Amino acid sequence: MKVSIIGAGNVGSMLAARILEKDLADVILVDIIGNLARAKALDLKHSASILGFQSTCAGTDDYNLIDDSNVVVITAGLARKPGMSREDLFQKNLSIVKEVSLKVKKIAPETIVVVVTNPLDAMTYAVLKTTGFKREKVIGMAGVLDCSRFSANIAEKFNLPVRSIECLIIGMHSDAMIPILSHTRASQTNIKQIASPEQLKEVIDKTKGAGKEIVSLLGSGSAYFAPSAGAFFIVKSILKNSKRTLVASVYLEGEYDINDVCLGVPVKIGAEGISQIIEIRLSREEKKALKESASSLKQKFSKFSF
Ligand code: LAC
Repeated sequence: MKVSIIGAGNVGSMLAARILEKDLADVILVDIIGNLARAKALDLKHSASILGFQSTCAGTDDYNLIDDSNVVVITAGLARKPGMSREDLFQKNLSIVKEVSLKVKKIAPETIVVVVTNPLDAMTYAVLKTTGFKREKVIGMAGVLDCSRFSANIAEKFNLPVRSIECLIIGMHSDAMIPILSHTRASQTNIKQIASPEQLKEVIDKTKGAGKEIVSLLGSGSAYFAPSAGAFFIVKSILKNSKRTLVASVYLEGEYDINDVCLGVPVKIGAEGISQIIEIRLSREEKKALKESASSLKQKFSKFSF
């Protein structure tokens, strides 16, 4: 198996480490700063004997090395600075992601693409339109991360084991993300029976603001341990054909009565990419919120042609 990671920054290199350490696949780390990718690949390789993995890793600025990849993960792009929203990255990251997508289309036309660059739902759409790949093969990573943050916050607030929390967040990877409380449980008890409305608001706000909180604490750069874990989970689902249900940003063609945008919804992911888009029952408010996100994304792209 072969996974190529475009962008050797914090998320890309941490993802490479996670893949290598689990011996999931050989890794090609690509960055326009070739020596950065080479340095990180060398450093990663030097951990093989200690950690006992067999998989190989190469760093390069040569896109030709991504040929025959089973999965290409796009992490390239600028990260937020304190005070910025993910949306502020739109223009700059759109041109980076389009350039990368054209290379992927040419050199690895059979691959599945996992998108991590922000603003996530817009960049997933840009990759889909620029590559012209089938929608099953373009997957945006965010819902896994948002759900994991929600679980961590619930566990901490109520002093519960994080493994006892099940939750669901759909929609955009932004403040407009939509927690689905009817699917949020702690030790099989619905969250509304455990938390007061004030407590719920607190954990939801903390989850929505998690990325921003980390950006502001770091001062320079953004989160990468949990984002790389989210990307790893999707890559693993593809390579192991696991078909587990998770939330990812995918191109909607009528599901949830929405067309021609990418948004986070529950899906099953396996060797062919997205094997199923799951339509759960939503409340009137949740439906409205999802539609509003779809409209705002459509408006964003109305002046672009692909
Ligand atoms: C975050 C970035 C990865 O949420 O979007 O931390």
